[in-house]
Amino acid sequence: MIVFNNVTKKYGSNVGLIDASVHINRGDFVFLVGPSGAGKTTFIRLILKEIEPDKGKILLAGKDITHIGRREVPAIRQKIGMVFQDFRLLEKKTVYENVAFAMEVLHKRKREIRERVPYVLELVDIKDKANRYPDELSAGEQQRVGIARALVNKPRVLICDEPTGNLDPITAMDIMELLDKINVRGTTVLMVTHAKDIVDRMNKRVVAIDKGRIVRDEEGTYGFKKDDQLYAPGFADALIDVNGQPLSSEDRKTLYFDPSKTIVQALPDDDPEDVENMLEAYLNGGEDVYE
Ligand SMILES: Nc1ncnc2c1ncn2[C@@H]1O[C@H](COP(=O)(O)OP(=O)(O)OP(=O)(O)O)[C@@H](O)[C@H]1O
Ligand SMILES: [Mg+2]
Repeated sequence: MIVFNNVTKKYGSNVGLIDASVHINRGDFVFLVGPSGAGKTTFIRLILKEIEPDKGKILLAGKDITHIGRREVPAIRQKIGMVFQDFRLLEKKTVYENVAFAMEVLHKRKREIRERVPYVLELVDIKDKANRYPDELSAGEQQRVGIARALVNKPRVLICDEPTGNLDPITAMDIMELLDKINVRGTTVLMVTHAKDIVDRMNKRVVAIDKGRIVRDEEGTYGFKKDDQLYAPGFADALIDVNGQPLSSEDRKTLYFDPSKTIVQALPDDDPEDVENMLEAYLNGGEDVYE
């Protein structure tokens, strides 16, 4: 579905990708991981034809797209659904209108739009909120709309750039389950993420990039050491320890990689399942979880 053969892309003296070869097959679910500046966005922008490679060959859905004309670029992008960290919904349009808009810009027939939009809203489980505006939705619901919009034109590949970056741990796992469901139904999924805990839990294929090079490509775990980027910064900021003090940055890192662990430390007598329930209650606005 996506093939990179010995692709190199430099930005002046900056390395984007060096001699990168990856084969992503139809129906694959692939995590693309690596430290900041590794080349992940470069990889995606090459697929979207936003930038041109210096060397190597890129194929999408069997077609050589290494050097195609400008007029062919829209057809390439229509084969790809994009999901973003910050959702990128149109604030003045309802959920339904946001998703329908993606079809309208491609001049799809009204009847087709009327049939397809409710179908994808149902698929992502947001149909009951079709007439709401984005600011009336939770972050997780907004991302469901973002995914519905990405799917509405039946792309061959769904590319997700940190889709859970703005979500709390529980909502993030809901979104991962949704992406998994979409993948099982046949859409190839490529997801860029820093969320070690998610990658470790999903146990999918992981392509790791470092300094522009593909350093690993196998099923399993995230593989890089902890980095400082918080998985759910808003959530971690809200947490306090048993003494009512904000969590230290060390504890926040533990929370980032194992959401239950910090709470377990704070509440030593509770078993992990109770902790998960409490965490959920806490995230839903419940109080007193530390009492
Ligand atoms: N437009 C550009 N001009 C110059 N250098 C660039 C440009 N875009 C990216 N780079 C450089 O290419 C390298 C790879 O960048 P890229 O954006 O692909 O990294 P990334 O893996 O997506 O990082 P992050 O996790 O921070 O998003 C970096 O060293 C970056 O500084
Ligand atoms: Mg990036």
